[in-house]
Amino acid sequence: MAYETIVVDVENHIATIKLNRPDALNALNVQLLGELAKALGELDRNEKIRCIILTGSAKAFAAGADIKEMSEKSFVDMFLLDFFGGEAEAITRTRKPVIAAVSGYALGGGCELAMMCDFIIAADTAKFGQPEINLGIVAGMGGTQRLTRLVGKSKSMDMHLTGRFMDAEEAERAGLVSRVVPAKKLMEEARTAAEKVAEKSMLTAKAVKEAVNRSYETTLSEGLLYERRMFHAMFATEDQNEGMSAFADKRSPQFRDR
Ligand code: CAA
Repeated sequence: MAYETIVVDVENHIATIKLNRPDALNALNVQLLGELAKALGELDRNEKIRCIILTGSAKAFAAGADIKEMSEKSFVDMFLLDFFGGEAEAITRTRKPVIAAVSGYALGGGCELAMMCDFIIAADTAKFGQPEINLGIVAGMGGTQRLTRLVGKSKSMDMHLTGRFMDAEEAERAGLVSRVVPAKKLMEEARTAAEKVAEKSMLTAKAVKEAVNRSYETTLSEGLLYERRMFHAMFATEDQNEGMSAFADKRSPQFRDR
């Protein structure tokens, strides 16, 4: 399927979605968010795909929601369109692992899109920020909630109230990104990580995602119980049998997602 604002590339079991509005530093407009949601839905249903990488350009992962598109809208417009509900949250409904590979600016909605992914690999050129306050608005794609859970209240308040940018090193220290790599190696590192994920049982990977994401939604004791029951359930799968047999036989497991 041809898209205008994203480029989807599939190689072996890995799909790469590149945000592609270079003239607007990949600002997230309605068309881009719709195309992204459609692509994610198709890739999630495609049995050949085992991991998805979301990336942008060297200069910008995404510089935020499209300010030009939003500037003339009223409260009623935003409310009736439910701006940034629905399609904008498609990543969070994707059951397959999604890795964000971030280079350059990841601001506002760009930072929020990266945070919806399962983990973030950042180039040493990456800059994260929630500068919405400079536009007289608050974040609208999850920044006040997800950034706070990831980096804690103090740094989240700092980012949202001052609108300053955080470099990759600070983002890694704060727990926003999982690793920082040289900009030139970003896609190679993201691909290596995606290949590692793709080798695993997709059944188990989906269970991991559900269990980790549950930690955001529930209490510790409920989350621990959910994890334990999920752990028990794994013993009904062929892949548990294969994984443990392979360990005993000193060979690599051949998972079948069953
Ligand atoms: N929306 C629309 N267009 C944008 C944009 C955005 N968020 N960010 C950049 N652009 C456009 C610029 O208007 C410019 O287009 P023109 O050449 O047609 O004028 C082009 O991209 C290049 O941008 P700059 O010339 O500004 O590039 P720069 O290198 O000088 O600065 C920057 C880069 C610091 C990222 C700057 O572009 C910037 O501050 N962008 C806005 C960042 C921002 O405020 N993001 C939050 C948006 S609101 C939001 O995201 C709400 C939410 O929570 C969902």
